[in-house]
Formats: sequence, structure tokens, C-alpha cells
Amino acid sequence: MKSVLPSTIALSRRQLLRGAGALAVAALAIPADPRLAFGAVNFIDYPFQLGVASGEPWPDGFVIWTRLAPRPLEPGHGMSGDIVPVDWEVAEDRLFRKVAVKGTALAHPELGHAVHVEVAGLLPGRPYWYRFRCGDHRSMQGRAVTAPAAGAPLAKLRFAIAGCQNYDQGLYTAFDHLAREEVDFVYHYGDYIYEGLSRPFYFSRYLDDVVPSPRRTDLPDPYSVDEYRMRYARYKLDTDLQKAHAAAPWIAVWDDHEIVDNWVSDFNWDNTPPDIFRLRRAAAAQAYYEHLPFRRSSLPDGARMQLFRKFSFGDLVDMHVLDTRQYRSDQPCRDGFRPACPDVDNPNLTVLGEAQEKWLFDGLAGGKARFNLLAQQVMLMPCDREPGEANIRNLDSWDPYRVARARLLRHIQGNNIRNTVVLTGDEHQNIVGNVIFDDKDPNSPVVATEFVVTSISSGGDGGSERPNAKGMLAENPHIKLINDQRGYGLCEVTQKHLSMDLKVLDQVMTPGGKLSSRAKFAVDPNKPGVQKG
Ligand SMILES: [Fe+2]
Repeated sequence: MKSVLPSTIALSRRQLLRGAGALAVAALAIPADPRLAFGAVNFIDYPFQLGVASGEPWPDGFVIWTRLAPRPLEPGHGMSGDIVPVDWEVAEDRLFRKVAVKGTALAHPELGHAVHVEVAGLLPGRPYWYRFRCGDHRSMQGRAVTAPAAGAPLAKLRFAIAGCQNYDQGLYTAFDHLAREEVDFVYHYGDYIYEGLSRPFYFSRYLDDVVPSPRRTDLPDPYSVDEYRMRYARYKLDTDLQKAHAAAPWIAVWDDHEIVDNWVSDFNWDNTPPDIFRLRRAAAAQAYYEHLPFRRSSLPDGARMQLFRKFSFGDLVDMHVLDTRQYRSDQPCRDGFRPACPDVDNPNLTVLGEAQEKWLFDGLAGGKARFNLLAQQVMLMPCDREPGEANIRNLDSWDPYRVARARLLRHIQGNNIRNTVVLTGDEHQNIVGNVIFDDKDPNSPVVATEFVVTSISSGGDGGSERPNAKGMLAENPHIKLINDQRGYGLCEVTQKHLSMDLKVLDQVMTPGGKLSSRAKFAVDPNKPGVQKG
């Protein structure tokens, strides 16, 4: 069924431009494409069912996003092959009385009719509100916030850290709460979707047993762009997730499950030939781009996607967003949670790849902000998972890349950078501790502080701590807290300190989970290491 019907050719291209305003002319760059749907467009259903989002906060603007999908879970998503103009506006107030800038963007079928508008010309460090209109339909509205001017004096920055949102393992109650925090931005560390088969049961590490899934995507394991799109559509139909997107701009980066479990570089766990695996990576990368508010600079080129980038917030924070998947050497010692093998000392293994590592080292050495944040995916701190003689490591963390990690820590220490705070996900637990220089010497100097922030839903209800937590704490004295509940991190940065409030839920399997603060920590900008907040 053709959903976008140019039922009446009511407007010429020139009229369309005039009606959209001068700013739109710059934004549009209308191609001479016969697929452009002029005039009124009609939809078979509400086209903004996947919500809206903003992201990539810069001092003069941000990205606003939506995607036209009147039938999100049907093949074709209820859209035809037309290019569809979508009007947008950004206002200084939530009632849209004072519109700051507006225009018309084109939703292309090649991008699943996603719209990414790079809004510019705004004032730094203040909230704005945005919305879209297409045909007779108007989207929900969202709140975005511009970054404070880089280097300018800034008293306070508040942001949230979230990720790992397996749809089948829990509800998004944490996002419902996060949406009410009025943060300046959200850092999403990855695992926005989970690929794989949707099963009626999953394994809970807290219970060491299988538990029933509270809900299911009920979709096939994705390989094609359209299958990945369907998976994103299922996730994004969740209204708690939509509220969290509409509440603040997001800075997102992928981890593994946006493509497939524990992938790195050209390597998949099942030994798919790299050139074949790259086809799946390309499909997944495109769908990821289509559904998150990225800048055009992150538009994938085949399997490649530019995701490492830096954000600055006044004189308080430089945030280096790292991509620890795309350039990493294949996991040594056969991946998984296993004993470390001699390959962990292989000097040729890399986590960041040469170009990203140089970019990071230059940024850290030249940084002037009060705090340097490394916003990344897998745990940097060394961690022996079992007490006693056994040396069990998470071989998908930084642990088996000891030479690459030492190079990073030596760079931080050698340049006397004492304000590095690492923000991490992946573990589906809160794990807070000190990044020590030598993982074979628990008394070695503290180089940085790390907050591994728990999952939104992955792992299900959980509880205070897993059966192995006490042993892990005893074995790793640089780790100060382990907790296995769902939630998010709330971070407040001032000139005096960075404080982290770990918010957790009592349960996520049924609606109405209660939120509480599990622990608060503080970090001094002149002394690496975590303190009780
Ligand atoms: Fe995850």
C-alpha cells in the first residue's frame, strides 16, 4: 500500500521553499528528484510513532531527529519510495511562542525516512524545544540543550549515563525516571538494541538461573537493514524510551549488540569471514545511524562509522567519546570470562587503533578543562573475577589488552593528568573503583577513577549483589562498590568536584519499579581516585 500520496500538487518547489522560510532554503538544497513528494502528503497512520530525539550538543546547536514510520513493524514501515519534506521548528519556550529557527528537511527512503537536522545559530548553554510537522500531523515535542561555550566559566553541569537496554529482559522504568531529571545531556554507552533471537527465557547472573522474559521483541535475528530497522522500531515504540529522548540531547556510541554479541573490528564470535561479516556490520551501522540523533559526520560509509569524537562543556568538562569496538584487535584467549593466557601481554594488540589512540592522547595532553571524561564501553580497571589462585578475566574488557592499557595509563600519568574520569557500561552492574597503574600490584598508583554504570534493563531485576561480588571485592581492593540492580548514573560536575549518584530500581519486570539512590561518590579534580560522596 502506498502511504505517502502526493494527492494534490498544491505547491511548486519554489512555493515550498518560500513557505518554509529563508533558513529552509539553506537547509534544503532541494535536488531535482522526481521522487520528491510535493504538496499535501497523506499517511495511512500517524507518522511520528517512533518519537523525536535530539543529540550532539554543541555551543550553537544540536541535532534534532525523527523518522517517518506510520506502520513501524510492517515491511516498508508504511512508507513508499517518495522523498518527503518534513517541517521542523526550534523555539525558546515550550509553548513555541518564540521560534528561534525553523526549516524543512527531506526524509529520504534510502535512510528509512529518518530526518537528522543539524540546527545551528543558537545561543550557548540554554534549553530549547523542537517539533516536526508533516502533512496533517505534528510530532511530540522535545527539549534540547545547547552546550555552554567551550572554555567559558561554568558553575555546574548535570548529565545522566545509561545503556544496555535489552527489551526482552526488563521494562524501561529507569528511562521514565531519567526523563524527569532535567539533565543537560544523556551519555548512552551502547547496547541500544540487542540482536539475536527473542526467547521466552533468559539467564539471570544474579539468580544463577533462567527467568521468564517480561516482554519480547518477537522478531527474527537481524541481518538486513530492514530487519535491524524493525528491531529499532520495536524498541523505540516504548514510551519510556521516547520520554528520555524527548527530555534531553543524547550523546550516543555503540557497543557490541547494535551489531552482534562481542564483535570487534572484522571479527564475529562465530568466525564469519571478515568480508561477509562487513555486510552485516554495514546493515547494522546504517540502521543505528537512522535511529539516533547523529551528525552527518557519523553517516556510515559501508561498515565504517565515525563515532569517536569530543564534546566540551565550558571550562568544566572535556568528554572524549571512545569507540572500543571498531578498531580493536580480536579478543585474545578465546573471549568470554576465562583464565588469562600469555597473549594478554601481546604488544601488538590494540583497543582504540592507532588513529583514535593518537587523537585521544593529543586531546588529553592539550586539555584545559576541570575534568577529562573518557566516555567508553568496556571496563578499563583490571579485575580478577575469582578469588584465590584462579585469574579469571573478562576477555571482552580492557583486561586482556594489557600493553595497550598500560600505554594509555602511562600517557595520563606521564602528563600529570589528575582529573580523568572513565564512564563505562557493558557489565550490567554498577562497579566503582580506581584505575590502578599495575594490575599485578594492588598498591600501585591510582591513575584515574572509573564508574561502570549499570544497565537500564539487561539482566532483569537483579538485587544488591551477585553471588561472586564479595569475592571480587576481596580480590580487587581498588574496586569500592559492586551492585546488581538496574538504573542509571546521575553526574553533577562543579569546579570543586564531580559527584556520581547511582540510581537503582527495586525491580524492572513489572511496571512501577521504585527508584532510590544506591550510592554516591565524589572525585576531586586534583586527585585521581574515588571518594565517598
Ligand atoms: Fe549490554
